[in-house]
Amino acid sequence: MSMPEVIVTAPLPPFLYEPLRRDYRCHDYVQAADRAALLRAHAGRIRGLVQGGGTVTPTELLDALPQLEIISVFGVGYDGVPIDYCRKRGIKVTNTPDVLTDDVADVAVGLVLMTGRGFAKAERFVRSGAWEKSGPELTTRLGGRKAGILGLGRIGKAIALRLEAMGMLIAYTGRNAQAGVHYRFVPDLKALAAESDFLVVACPGGPATKNLVDAGVLAALGSKGTIVNIARGSIIDEPALVAALERGTIKAAGLDVFADEPHVPKALLAMENVVLLPHVGSATRETRQAMGDLCKANLDAWFAHRPLPTLIPELA
Ligand code: 8YV
Repeated sequence: MSMPEVIVTAPLPPFLYEPLRRDYRCHDYVQAADRAALLRAHAGRIRGLVQGGGTVTPTELLDALPQLEIISVFGVGYDGVPIDYCRKRGIKVTNTPDVLTDDVADVAVGLVLMTGRGFAKAERFVRSGAWEKSGPELTTRLGGRKAGILGLGRIGKAIALRLEAMGMLIAYTGRNAQAGVHYRFVPDLKALAAESDFLVVACPGGPATKNLVDAGVLAALGSKGTIVNIARGSIIDEPALVAALERGTIKAAGLDVFADEPHVPKALLAMENVVLLPHVGSATRETRQAMGDLCKANLDAWFAHRPLPTLIPELA
């Protein structure tokens, strides 16, 4: 039997790409010198698409793939996939939830520590030799301080658990109050920001949350407040964030994600009160391997007519 044909629209690590190539005829859309020619030659036979969590898949590309049956996302976020379009065409969409939850939550905690206790700045202080001349700055105790979590999903809950263990006081906002959680629900994001020392963004990206954290929310967070984002850059109005940091409207920011990765606004690079990471939430060998395995397992299940391990809830 001939191998199913799959188009790959994001750079994939070898531990996913190599097994994928063994079982599928892969068309590398990222590396293709002439993408239109690739589509002209193969589009009619392509049945699967593999993309990253941050990859945006335009409907025009899907229009060009008339036989497409499944999109397997290498990531938990599928904000780059046009879900309504896929539903109409009967295209299945899968992602890689759960396996990355703990690693992403660890990064959120890291950003709280790095901003709150000034670890990034303190480390630069040692390296520069400044410690030879003076003592380090005092920072603020984290225990007893308030963390507001925007989006108490699996990752949000894992973050809450960790911050709670550090003695922080947890509240959250989201579409609904959740049964079975002991954290306080604050229905309004601005109100949550106003009472929080740290506002931690952990909700899905996509049109529903685009620029949800805007100038008003940042103003409410205020000059003693820090924003942490491990979710998607699109959720924060980035120019408003830069302005809020420049003017001292908020105290600090810890960011693992940006609106236009890998581009980071120049102004942020120069700021001492900002900690910047290159989207490393899920970037451990173990987790990326597990994500790769799950991404392929979804394709394998589909083409073997078995139930999909992680079909996204909107299409279940
Ligand atoms: C990955 C992510 O870096 O899971 C997600 O949604 O954004 C990250 O875990 C990304 O999917 C790799 O392409």
